[in-house]
Amino acid sequence: MTNKLKIAIQKSGRLSENSLKLLKECGIDIDNGLNKLKTEASNFPIEVFFLRDDDIPQYVEDGVADIGIVGENVLLEKNKNLKLVDKLGFGKCRLSLAIPKEQNYKSIKDLNGKRIATTYSIILSKYLKAQKIKAEIHEISGSVEIAPSIGLADAICDLVSSGSTLFTNGLKEVEVILKSEAVLVANKKLGKTQQSILDKLLFRMNAVRKAKNTKYILLNAPNNKLDAICKILPGMKSPTILPLADKDWSSVHSVVEENQFWEIIEKLKAEGAQGILVVPIEKMIL
Ligand code: PRP
Ligand code: ZN
Repeated sequence: MTNKLKIAIQKSGRLSENSLKLLKECGIDIDNGLNKLKTEASNFPIEVFFLRDDDIPQYVEDGVADIGIVGENVLLEKNKNLKLVDKLGFGKCRLSLAIPKEQNYKSIKDLNGKRIATTYSIILSKYLKAQKIKAEIHEISGSVEIAPSIGLADAICDLVSSGSTLFTNGLKEVEVILKSEAVLVANKKLGKTQQSILDKLLFRMNAVRKAKNTKYILLNAPNNKLDAICKILPGMKSPTILPLADKDWSSVHSVVEENQFWEIIEKLKAEGAQGILVVPIEKMIL
């Protein structure tokens, strides 16, 4: 039994960079030298495995890794017995059907009797069944987007993120089958030590996420407007108010949520706030 938490992340692909970034933002030092398949953090009890994303659900189910970061798309396709711990907010994409761009398309019925290449045969066959479409699924393990141009298939079912892969291969997206993002999954029977390390990791992830959605705001306000301005700015408890050299004015510090940000700024200006500064927050512990 090891006293570390083993995490599996994608070796190379859409999720690799952001998965590592997330761990680094949590203050975990990882030396990810080129082509390393396994590494340990120097300042947190975690071991990182760099794997093919398609293999991650199996490894986590088997307990080779305790937790993993994968796309929901892979999770659905592999259908393993795992615990979904958290959605991570990055790696957003969709699993779509695409056909050569010069071809006409009216509805899904156009795919009746056609050949569709994909690495997502389970999700695709469920979808086609639900849509009552009879098509031939060609399961291939990669480079799906070239299948139509080499005559292997009439359509493809693959992930689309920016759309540039489809574009460079002369394809157009015709149906969205599902939307996906990166998620954190865990083995259903974690050991006590592993569970407690995971709890620490989740605590840090929450602090990072909360900080990303929140800004620190500083402004100058005339003293006779302080009440009105404090009402607009709830802060974590209440705003900090500091006197300025000019005795009629104060400096007000608070935090605001990103999604209310512009609305709040407009109200503050209307109440006479000046010199408004907005700064990012790195971590936020409530
Ligand atoms: C997916 C998909 C496409 C690409 C689409 O690959 O297979 O190649 O992303 O992205 P775009 O719309 O921004 O061009 P992924 O990184 O998931 O790797 P994998 O399919 O090899 O696992
Ligand atoms: Zn993959």
